[in-house]
This record gives sequence, structure tokens and C-alpha cells, in this order.
Amino acid sequence: MLRTIAQIESSPPKTACLHNTPTGHSIPLAEALKDIPSIVGYAIKANNNLHILKELSQSGSGAVLVSGNELQLAMAAGFDASRTVFNGNGKLPWELQLAVKHRVMINVDSEFDLQNISEAAHAVGTPARVLIRINPDIDPEVHPYVSTGLAGSKFGIRNSHLQWFLDTIKADTMVQLVGVHSHLGSTITKVSLFRDAATKMVEYIKEIRSQGFDDFKFLNLGGGLGIDYYHRGDKIPSPRDLVEQIRGTVMDLGLTLILEPGRSLVANTGALVNTVVGTKTNGTKNFAVVDGSMSALIRPSLYDAYQHIERTAPGNGPAEEFDVVGPVCESADFLGKARTFERPAAGEGLVVHDAGAYCMAMASTYNLQMRPAEYWVDEAGSLKQIRRGETLDDHLALFD
Ligand code: LLP
Repeated sequence: MLRTIAQIESSPPKTACLHNTPTGHSIPLAEALKDIPSIVGYAIKANNNLHILKELSQSGSGAVLVSGNELQLAMAAGFDASRTVFNGNGKLPWELQLAVKHRVMINVDSEFDLQNISEAAHAVGTPARVLIRINPDIDPEVHPYVSTGLAGSKFGIRNSHLQWFLDTIKADTMVQLVGVHSHLGSTITKVSLFRDAATKMVEYIKEIRSQGFDDFKFLNLGGGLGIDYYHRGDKIPSPRDLVEQIRGTVMDLGLTLILEPGRSLVANTGALVNTVVGTKTNGTKNFAVVDGSMSALIRPSLYDAYQHIERTAPGNGPAEEFDVVGPVCESADFLGKARTFERPAAGEGLVVHDAGAYCMAMASTYNLQMRPAEYWVDEAGSLKQIRRGETLDDHLALFD
């Protein structure tokens, strides 16, 4: 992909997102799951570029959604609604009605959520297919902001209250219990935790099955597999490693497995290309100031996340240490800290790798830094724009 970056740099300086095919990443997962009844639901929140979604839907992936708007986008991208799951702790009545209409599987997150799901099913006149989101209470050993499965998390039901959910569902002909769901968190690199989660779910599944529930057939173990952000040769578990941890449990239960990968399908097929505005030194610190910022990629500021940064041109001169920062008026505006490379000249490129997930999807126009254009890089290395860069006119049009 790096060789294509020159094409971006030859035009006036601007930040841009580059992507190439994420469907290649679904292949190892699909291979690993070949002999297990399963659905791979791509978590659309990671990257919702319509072009990329269409690629993934055409490759047979299902979708995992967290809003009514994501649901509508998934339908526009051609995902099969019966292979989609709607998650969330604050789903609204209109979103639930839409999900029921499309026969999307809906995760029950709380008492009020079940009530709202039931009302949506009655309003639409179609039974809702639901999974109960159980809180596995397992520490995923990741940044607290992306840890979701501990007992005090805002997601999922209070497990000790499971019987209330079962009784309420049993008494309601418009709600069908089709499975259980758990999600530990994100950026997980210790795959044995997925086995621990599967083992915990077995107890709940046995209890549920002992009480009937003939439509019960799915075990959803969520998403969360990490990727190699550091590029330093660490051994990062593959989708196959994850599947091997849970294969036995799923086969013993005779259920259909659902996995919800986001990052592991799209992160390392994307990069954020930045142009150097200049370099400066304050105190003992060097800064490489680029046109990209926390507005385009907030992960470093929000989670202190490491994303690998590389010069696009060969350097000369001694290597020095730089903080790579953007133009936004906040000291939180950095893309990388203490990175070592030769001092780049203004106009040169600095590329942030692994920006295919949670980059554009979380981008804002803070400081009126407009969201960058996105390009598709094909096998031959040529570029096609798959989303135009936003302009000030887009912003002004909101006030018409
Ligand atoms: N399923 C559920 C219920 C989730 O909450 C998530 C992510 C996924 C699946 C997909 O997880 P993945 O495979 O992508 O890790 N903005 C953060 C990540 C937040 C993840 C939120 N939930 C980041 O940039 O690291």
C-alpha cells in the first residue's frame, strides 16, 4: 500500500484514509469455522464505509449492529438480515421495531430493554428473535474503556436475575428466545479468555435448556480479537487460535456459534496518510506536526493507544525522537509519542498504520478539521475514491 501513497502526496497536502480488501481477513476465520455451524457477524461500528460493507456482505458475512441507522446501512449494503444481531444497552422503540420487521436477532440487555422489545414485536405484529446478553464477569486485560464484560459493566443483564428474564419471555408469545450472548471487550490478545467465557456460558445454557425454549440455538461469543498494532514481531493470536479455544464447547453443546469481529477484519487493511507541516523543538522535545489529528484518529488520545507510524520516504541524517502531533488546539492531540525516525521535511508523508478500524468511524470535525477522503487501493496499487473528503460547505449545509 505504501507505494500508492505517493499518488496522494503528489496532490495538495491533505490527510487521507487508504483501504484495501478486508475480505481477505475473513478467509482465515471462515476456514477455521468450516466444520462448525456458525455465523460471522461483522461489527459495522469498526468501519462503516459503504464500499467496504458491500465487499463484506458479498463475501457472506453477517452484520452486528448497534443502532437503527447501522441497521439501515447494513440493509443498503446487502447484508442478510436473518444473519444480523442488534446489540446495545439503550435501543430505542423505533430501532427495535425496525429490527423486528427485518427479523434481526436482538440482544436483551436489561429489564426495560426486554419490555421495549416486546412492545416493538406487538406493534409490528411479528415475534422478536432474542438472545440474552449475559455478563461473563471476566477481565479481558485491556484498556478499561474497551472492557465490557465485568460485573459492574453497563452492558448485559444482571445474571442473578436470569430467571425473571426466562419467565417473562416464556409468558410472551411475541418473544422467542433463540440464544445467549457474551462479549468480553476489545483488543484482546489472550484467547484463552474466550474459552473461559464459553465455559461460563455452558452453565447458563444448561439452565435455560432445562426449562424448554425450543427455538434456542445460538451461542454468541462476541468480538474483540486484537491485532498486531506494535509491528515488533509479537506473537498475536490468529482467528484460528481463537476458534480452537472454543471449538470443543460449541460442538458439545450442538449450538450454532456466532462471532462478532470488527477490528480483526478491517484494522490492518487501512492506513491514515498524513502530510508533514513542519518540525519544531520545545524544551527537550521534538514535534513532527502533521495535517492529520485526533479529529481523524482519536484512538491515541482516547485510549493512549499505540499505532505504528512510518515515514513514506527514505530518510537521511540521524534518527531522532518525535511526538507526532496534529493542528488541533489540545495537548491531547497526538497520533504517536516518542517515535524514532529521521527528521522529515515539510510535505513528506507520515503514515499511521492499522487505521482501518475505529478511525473514520470515530472521526469528528473538531476544530473544523473536515473528515478526510477514503480511497480503495486495488491489487495493482491504483486508487479509487470510496468516500469524498468533507468540506466546509457540508458543515454550512447543516444550517440551511
Ligand atoms: N460485539 C460487541 C458487543 C461489541 O461491543 C464490539 C465492540 C464488537 C462486537 C466488535 O469488537 P472488535 O472485534 O472490533 O474488538 N473504539 C475502540 C473499540 C470499541 C469496541 C466497542 N465494541 C477502539 O478503537 O479500540
